Amino acid sequence: MDNKIIHEGNVTLMVPKFDKVSAKAPVFYNPVMELNRDLSVAALTVFRNGLNHDIYVCDAFGGTGIRGIRYAKEIRGIEQAVVNDLNPLAVEFAKANIKLNQLENVVVCEEDANLILRKRKGKFDVIDIDPFGTPSPYLESAAASLRAGGMICITATDTSALCGTYIEPCIRKYGAVPLKTEYCHENGLRILAGFVARTFSKYKKFIEVKFSHSTEHYMRIYATIGKGAANTDESLKSLGYIAHCKNCLNRLVIKGLAPIIPENCPICGGNMDVGGPLWCGEMYSTDFVSLMILTVNQLSLNTKENVLKLLNTCLDEASAPETYYEIHKVCKNLKTSAPPIVDVMNLLKDGGFFVSRTHFSPTSIKTDANIVELKKIILHLKD
Ligand SMILES: C[S@@+](CC[C@H](N)C(=O)[O-])C[C@H]1O[C@@H](n2cnc3c(N)ncnc32)[C@H](O)[C@@H]1O
Ligand SMILES: [Zn+2]
Repeated sequence: MDNKIIHEGNVTLMVPKFDKVSAKAPVFYNPVMELNRDLSVAALTVFRNGLNHDIYVCDAFGGTGIRGIRYAKEIRGIEQAVVNDLNPLAVEFAKANIKLNQLENVVVCEEDANLILRKRKGKFDVIDIDPFGTPSPYLESAAASLRAGGMICITATDTSALCGTYIEPCIRKYGAVPLKTEYCHENGLRILAGFVARTFSKYKKFIEVKFSHSTEHYMRIYATIGKGAANTDESLKSLGYIAHCKNCLNRLVIKGLAPIIPENCPICGGNMDVGGPLWCGEMYSTDFVSLMILTVNQLSLNTKENVLKLLNTCLDEASAPETYYEIHKVCKNLKTSAPPIVDVMNLLKDGGFFVSRTHFSPTSIKTDANIVELKKIILHLKD
């Protein structure tokens, strides 16, 4: 196998040469995930800076070791990063890359991720789950293993299941019915967060989502973990359902695990499609994302511009309500052409509504105006 040297963040790495990124490659490395890794460095930096002790990190699906190595080299206060991978060739790459970067605070393991997390229960402050496809089979071990006060970072690349292209896989993997709508990426991210919350709750642990995003072919969640039965019970009140009317595009967010969900749209009487259970709580912490922005500003990253753009949009939508309106979809429903999105936003603001853009879609907005109010504003602009 041919190798090449790459530079990402502050590290130099040997990675396999490839024609096409594939899970079938002898050792996996995906350059497209650089933005994901840059964001991870920023998130772990903010998390570590909020503590008064050095931290243990588990990169449970290490591949070439790039994440664990970057964490160890680029973040102050990493006591140890454990890079783990089941593939012996990946382990060889990780070992060579640790040497290449002259690091003493990284160790390599060759185990099934579930085993290393179980064996080192209570040891890690941060667990990073970056598997092929779904993280679902590993979250139970992460929930059992992660210390209270720790942080879990999760990637999911099975977006077709989470977003509802395929319904049954989502039910099997996440115990939730997906909702295929124009805002299906948000629904998917919330289904993932809801599944994480339910899994951790078995161990009397609750999540606080600090930052999350859906980018290209993957979704990613960063959540800190608290402990205690009462707090966990309280936090599970953030679980609920979203009901969507395809006829008029109305949507309802209904909290609770066994709530009464209207079968018909209260606005037009059309049928409501229902997705969930999913996380109706916060998907970003304003403080955490603000600190990530400050951190990124001090780093030299190849993806800096895109990272800052994403973080600033997420900061705007941190206080926005659930779901978003895709302006073209709403205009098609109204049988009219789409006005400039900025004009719609300005008119909503003038009307006293909350309005922000969303990182999920450049042609969509988040607002606390309901579909009737939004349509009225769009039609007013067309007059
Ligand atoms: C998506 S890749 C990881 C990419 C890496 N984190 C990065 O940023 O480049 C998933 C890795 O998980 C490994 N893997 C698959 N199943 C595993 C398991 N059950 N336990 C541990 N590693 C596993 C694969 O060998 C592969 O290297
Ligand atoms: Zn309706």
